[in-house]
Amino acid sequence: DWTPNAFVEETVAHLKEQIGDDKVVLGLSGGVDSSVAAMLLHKAIGNNLYCIFVNNGLLRKNEFSQVLHQYEGMGLNVKGVDASARFMEALAGESDPEKKRKAIGRVFIEVFDDEATSIKDVTYLAQGTIYPDVIESVSATGGPSATIKSHHNVGGLPDFMKLKVVEPLKALFKDEVRRVGASMGMAPELLGRHPFPGPGLAIRILGDITPEKVAILQEVDAVFIENLKKWNLYDKVWQAGAILLPVNSVGVMGDERTYEKCVALRAVESTDGMTADWVNLPYEFLQATSNEIINKVKGVNRVVYDISSKPPATIEWE
Ligand code: XMP
Repeated sequence: DWTPNAFVEETVAHLKEQIGDDKVVLGLSGGVDSSVAAMLLHKAIGNNLYCIFVNNGLLRKNEFSQVLHQYEGMGLNVKGVDASARFMEALAGESDPEKKRKAIGRVFIEVFDDEATSIKDVTYLAQGTIYPDVIESVSATGGPSATIKSHHNVGGLPDFMKLKVVEPLKALFKDEVRRVGASMGMAPELLGRHPFPGPGLAIRILGDITPEKVAILQEVDAVFIENLKKWNLYDKVWQAGAILLPVNSVGVMGDERTYEKCVALRAVESTDGMTADWVNLPYEFLQATSNEIINKVKGVNRVVYDISSKPPATIEWE
C-alpha cells in the first residue's frame, strides 16, 4: 500500500532515470503543490532544476521575500523575479474580472518565458499538477499552478511551452501531496498554507487595481491571517482572505466625519473548493480583528463578514 516514503523513493529514482543530466525549469507559486514538486525534483537532479518565483505584486504582504527566503533555505536553485511593475501596468484601468485574469496570465507567461529562455539548453518544464487538476482542470489561469498543456513542436507558442512536461504529483490528492512534503522534511507552515489564487489580490480588489489599493488590502489581509493564526483558527479554515469593496461608507473619527473604504472578510470550510461553507468564526475573534483593522489600516472605516456559502456564492468575489 501507498506510503509517502516509498513514493518519494520511487519518484526520485524514476525522475533521475527519466531526466538524466538534462535541465528542468519550474515555476514556484509559494503554494504546496509547486513547492513539493520542486523538492522531489531537487532530490533527483539537484541544481539542474531551475526554479522561477515571480512576484506579480499581488501576493500577500511580505510574501515574496519570506517565501523566497524559505525556498533558498530548502536548498532550491531558485530565482526570484520581481515583475510587479509589469503586472500593474497591464492591469491599469481594468475592472472586468476575466480581463484582469487574462492580463495576469499573459504577463506571467511573458515573464516566465523570458526567464526560462535565458537558461541554456532546458529540456523539461516541471509542474505541480495534482490529480484533481487533471480531472477538473479548474482554476487554470494566472499562475504557475495553472495547468499549461504540453504542445510539442507547435509554432507560435512561448518557448517554454514547447518543452517536455514532467508532473511528478499527477496521481496524488492534496492530502497525499502534504504527506509527501512532510516526509521530505518540509516546513509545516509551508505545507499547511491555505490555497491562494494565481491572480492573487487582483480578484479580491473589486474594480480597477492601483498600488494604493493593493497596499491597503495587504495590510487588512495580514491582520486577518495573523489573527487566525494567533487564535489557533488558521488550520481549522480551508481558505481565508479579505476583499476590498468598491464602496466608500460614512464613518466618524473623533469629531470628524470620514468617508472611507469598506472591506469584507471571508473564511470558508471546503474539501476541494467546489462547494464551501462560511466558517462560524467566534464573535470575539471578529470583534478583535475588526477593531484592529480599523485602527491600524488607514483608509478603512468599516469591516463586514461574508456569510454566504458556495453555491450559490463563489469563494472569491470575482
Ligand atoms: P471560486 O471563487 O470559483 O474559487 O469559488 C474556488 C477556488 O479556486 C480559486 N480560484 C482561482 N485560482 N486562478 C486560480 O489559480 C483563478 O483565476 C481562480 N479563481 C478562483 C479560489 O481561490 C478558490 O480556492
